[in-house]
Amino acid sequence: MSFDLKNLVATRMGENYDLHTRHLNPMLVEVLRITGFDKVYVRAEGAYLYDSGGQEYLDFLSGYGVFAMGRNHPTIKKAICDTLDLDLPNMVQLDCSLLSGLLAEALLKKVPSHLEAIFFCNSGTEAVEGAIKFARAATGRSKIISLKGCYHGLSYGSLSVTGSANFQEGFGPFLADVARVRLGDLEGLEKLLKKENVAAFLFEPVQGKGVNYPSDDFYEKSQALCRAHGTLVICDEVQSGLGRTGKWWGFQHWNLEPDIVTVAKSLSGGFVPCGAVVTRRAIYQKVFSRLDRAVVHSSTFGRNNLAMACGLAALDVLENEKLIENSAALGQKLREKLDALRAKHSLIKEVRGKGLMIAIEFHEPAQLALKFTWRVLHRIDHGLFAQLVIVPLLSQHRILTQVAGHNMDVIKILPPLIITEKEVDYFVNAFDEALQGCRRFPGPILELARNTAFRRLKRKDRPNGSETKPAVVRS
Ligand SMILES: Cc1ncc(COP(=O)(O)O)c(C=O)c1O
Repeated sequence: MSFDLKNLVATRMGENYDLHTRHLNPMLVEVLRITGFDKVYVRAEGAYLYDSGGQEYLDFLSGYGVFAMGRNHPTIKKAICDTLDLDLPNMVQLDCSLLSGLLAEALLKKVPSHLEAIFFCNSGTEAVEGAIKFARAATGRSKIISLKGCYHGLSYGSLSVTGSANFQEGFGPFLADVARVRLGDLEGLEKLLKKENVAAFLFEPVQGKGVNYPSDDFYEKSQALCRAHGTLVICDEVQSGLGRTGKWWGFQHWNLEPDIVTVAKSLSGGFVPCGAVVTRRAIYQKVFSRLDRAVVHSSTFGRNNLAMACGLAALDVLENEKLIENSAALGQKLREKLDALRAKHSLIKEVRGKGLMIAIEFHEPAQLALKFTWRVLHRIDHGLFAQLVIVPLLSQHRILTQVAGHNMDVIKILPPLIITEKEVDYFVNAFDEALQGCRRFPGPILELARNTAFRRLKRKDRPNGSETKPAVVRS
């Protein structure tokens, strides 16, 4: 056997960023270098990443939320090994595989009983594409309404409803029949629904970008309006589902009864791309409505054995390790402890979230010196402050976090659902210290801002250099 992956990894580890500069995305490499995020992680376990020196990093990003069960979970790893050991036939396509049937059965036990049918795909954006197609096929209508500030993925249908200029720029035209309403704008929604041409109202129960959700009964009233006007309700649970918000599904915080639910991210425990559209049987039948339409919507790798086996193991882990209960309990603890820091740091405007999907929003502080720093930073770039909080969290405290969206003073944390009080306390103390750093003027934060601005100016001067924001922003 000539191919030896372990040897390949051992001999080439460390070339990561050079390889990416040459063959993949040099812009990403530059952003990571500017911000000091250009670490070479060589191992991962549970809530931690490790570099070649054995240094430990607390992962409060969890791969944009896919590692809810922690990294390299032994139960899910074993499911992969067992699947390979069994030499099962995979993706025969013109058959019905056992594992996809079993995962469908297991997942349907976790959703309300009116949802009875599943379509498996390979990612969140693919699940959203499927949901849009299902809604159109079932209603015979074309319009999709989404929420301002939403994020549903970056393929064309999903990007059309996402409606963020930062992601859309340069890629138009998009799906034409799309409208967006502000979160909470019931009147605006009703005006659109009344035209009775709307296939679906699509929303993330807890928005990934900024971690926003209504504090009133907007969702409940929206659902009632949708029912009254023949519009389907799609809950995009790609990020908020599977325990992330302290319940199995985000929509359960508002007792909603969605017609379609999209799932992905941690469905396979982070090992194999996997997504799902979960819906009413009647909607499903409208899509796969005749013998000649039996595969009218499909994806070659959907239902593949490794994804299905991982899904089965991941659901088992969520249940047996009581991770949803842990998400609710530790999420509350984390929010309370972070909220208590507001008394000490006037920079903190609000701590919000559900379960372990948490945002910390900043605002202009009261103290004069800090106010000045704040204004200088915002003059340089509108999303810079949050960036300059996550940088020392990594460089000084070895904690991986993210900014919560473009041009906002918000950071987001998505820890794996397996964390304990140890990780909660470590994060809260580190965050406290990182904010203390903002008080020193000109402190490390301003220094970093200056460096960042300088690098960006240099880039602008290059003949073909576009301006680069030093941020990797996803929802
Ligand atoms: C709510 C939501 N929908 C859809 C997507 C797209 O998922 P993917 O990146 O797997 O395509 C995301 C990704 O972050 C998401 O948060």
